Amino acid sequence: MNAAQTSLDPPHFPVMLKEVIEICSPKNGGSFVDCTFGGGGYSKELLKFPNTKVIALDRDKGAIREAEKLKERFSGRFSFYNEKFSNLDLILNEKNSIDTFIFDLGISSNQLLDLDRGFSFKSNKRIDMNMGLSEISAEEVLNEVDEKNLKLIIKTFGEEKEGSRIAKNIVRAREKKRISLVPELVKIIEASKKKIFNKKINVCTKTFQALRIFVNKEITELIEGIITAAKFLKADGKIVVITFHSIEDKIIKFFFNYYSKNRSKPSRYFPEEETKAPILFHNNNNKFLKASPKEININPKSRSAKLRFIMRNNEQFKDPDELKIKFKRYLDLENINV
Ligand SMILES: C[S@@+](CC[C@H](N)C(=O)[O-])C[C@H]1O[C@@H](n2cnc3c(N)ncnc32)[C@H](O)[C@@H]1O
Repeated sequence: MNAAQTSLDPPHFPVMLKEVIEICSPKNGGSFVDCTFGGGGYSKELLKFPNTKVIALDRDKGAIREAEKLKERFSGRFSFYNEKFSNLDLILNEKNSIDTFIFDLGISSNQLLDLDRGFSFKSNKRIDMNMGLSEISAEEVLNEVDEKNLKLIIKTFGEEKEGSRIAKNIVRAREKKRISLVPELVKIIEASKKKIFNKKINVCTKTFQALRIFVNKEITELIEGIITAAKFLKADGKIVVITFHSIEDKIIKFFFNYYSKNRSKPSRYFPEEETKAPILFHNNNNKFLKASPKEININPKSRSAKLRFIMRNNEQFKDPDELKIKFKRYLDLENINV
């Protein structure tokens, strides 16, 4: 524990810090955008190198306190915006100006451990799950979305095979009493699950993930964010993304592959001869990095992290429309009215 840390602050472990900094290669300075500031792990490390500039953002107001400290310490080299990825283009104004964008997706340990926010199934508080700047809460979703869409949300974003029964039981329960507290939802999920497919993960994990993604429109945010990143990168600039679940990873894998110079075999959605898709990136090696066993030992959360990165070419930016077409079903589902 360092001197500034109190026993109330959990220790902070930015995932794959060494690998991210190596990819950023800040020895000779550069402009970096830390799109998921959180506790500021990557920003702080980048600012240790002279001549670096960091623009950081986070949708969570909780990130402001740490950001203020960096603003004071690295005046003129660090700026912070309490904003979402989907508004990145309002923050950045100069095209071809950024060396690296970093996206470390999902929620932070601070958000998960703040039981008042209802992200954790260990909480006994209201089911909120708003990461910041969301228009709805998970409580509203549980009580106001119809059964068909609830089922779709849980099955699609949680990849929960028993989504139908969970949705049905949520609707039954709310007919008697509004569902507001985390333990109420936990009870419904536990009673709905017949088969435990994976004993290693809690029975609630998938439904909680689904609600969190929907409440925060995480897929819409990710797609908007990576498109803007490609727009503002310098030639040879990089996008680094750390994902924690298969939907995020699928999107990044497709984006990096489909718009790279060596894009692999034509997709059945877009036959090669018909596609006019722009080539935005140099060759893609389709590989990803995982945290080392040593890191996983210290920070078990890093076990599910996958790091992918890609380098921009010098072609003019053109909207990668196929990305939104390919993942339209996720975008449409996130944008249903509640
Ligand atoms: C895994 S944490 C990042 C941790 C950070 N790298 C660190 O070292 O502390 C993800 C952070 O991204 C933020 N976030 C998630 N989605 C966002 C979005 N669409 N726009 C802005 N911030 C977002 C969350 O609020 C959270 O603080």
